[in-house]
Amino acid sequence: MENNRINYIDYSLTDLEQDCWNRLVTGATKSRNPFHTPCVATLANGEVNMRTVVLRKTLPTERELRFHTDIRSPKWKELIHNPSISALFYDSEERIQLRVKGKAVLHHTDDMTAKAWQTTSLSSRKCYLTLQSPSSFANSSTSGLPEDIEQENFTLAESEVGYENFGIVSIHVQSIDWLWLNHAGHRRAFFDYEEGRFQWMVP
Ligand SMILES: Cc1cc2nc3c(=O)[nH]c(=O)nc-3n(C[C@H](O)[C@H](O)[C@H](O)COP(=O)(O)O)c2cc1C
Repeated sequence: MENNRINYIDYSLTDLEQDCWNRLVTGATKSRNPFHTPCVATLANGEVNMRTVVLRKTLPTERELRFHTDIRSPKWKELIHNPSISALFYDSEERIQLRVKGKAVLHHTDDMTAKAWQTTSLSSRKCYLTLQSPSSFANSSTSGLPEDIEQENFTLAESEVGYENFGIVSIHVQSIDWLWLNHAGHRRAFFDYEEGRFQWMVP
C-alpha cells in the first residue's frame, strides 16, 4: 500500500509551523482526526492532572485553541488558581507529536459561551446537566443525570439550565514543540511565540 505520509526532511521551520496550525485546525473540525482529542494537563498544588478533551476550535492567527467544560469541574478551579496549561497531541499515522504550552483564559456567560452554547447539541448539553459537580464521588454507579435527561427525554428549552455550568477554556498558545518520528532520523522543532523564535532541536 502506498504511503501518503508527508516527508518533512526538506521543510523549513516556517512551513513546519504552518503545518502544525493546519493540523490543529483539522483536529478541531474533523471528529475522526487524531488531533480532535488532545490530553490536557493542569497543575494543582504542585501535582499534575491530565485528561482527554475535545478540541472545539483552533484560531491560527490568534494562536488560540478552545475546549468546552463544566465550570464545576476540578480543572476549571485549577485553572483559576494557575492558568498554565499544556495540551498533548499525537497522530500515530503521521507519527507527529505536538506539545502545546500556553495560558488558559476562562469564559463563562459571555459572548463566546453564548454563541457556542447555541450550537451545542442536545446530547452534548447533557454533560452540563448533572445534579452534582462532575468528578464528585457517588454512592453507586451513576451518570449523575436525572432519569429523563439520561433518556434524552427533554427539550432544548429545558436544557437551557445547563448554560450556567457551561464554560470555555481558551488556550493562548505560548509555544509548540513539534516531533516527527522518521525511520531515517527523527526531527524536532520548537516554536516559541514568547521569544519570537523558531528553532530546530535534537529529537
Ligand atoms: C474522548 C473524550 C473526550 C472528552 N472531552 C471532554 C471535554 O471536551 N471537556 C471536558 O471537560 N471533559 C472531557 N472529557 C472528560 C475528561 O477527560 C475528564 O474525565 C473530566 O472532564 C473530568 O476532568 P477533571 O476532573 O480533571 O476536571 C472527555 C473524555 C474523553 C474520554
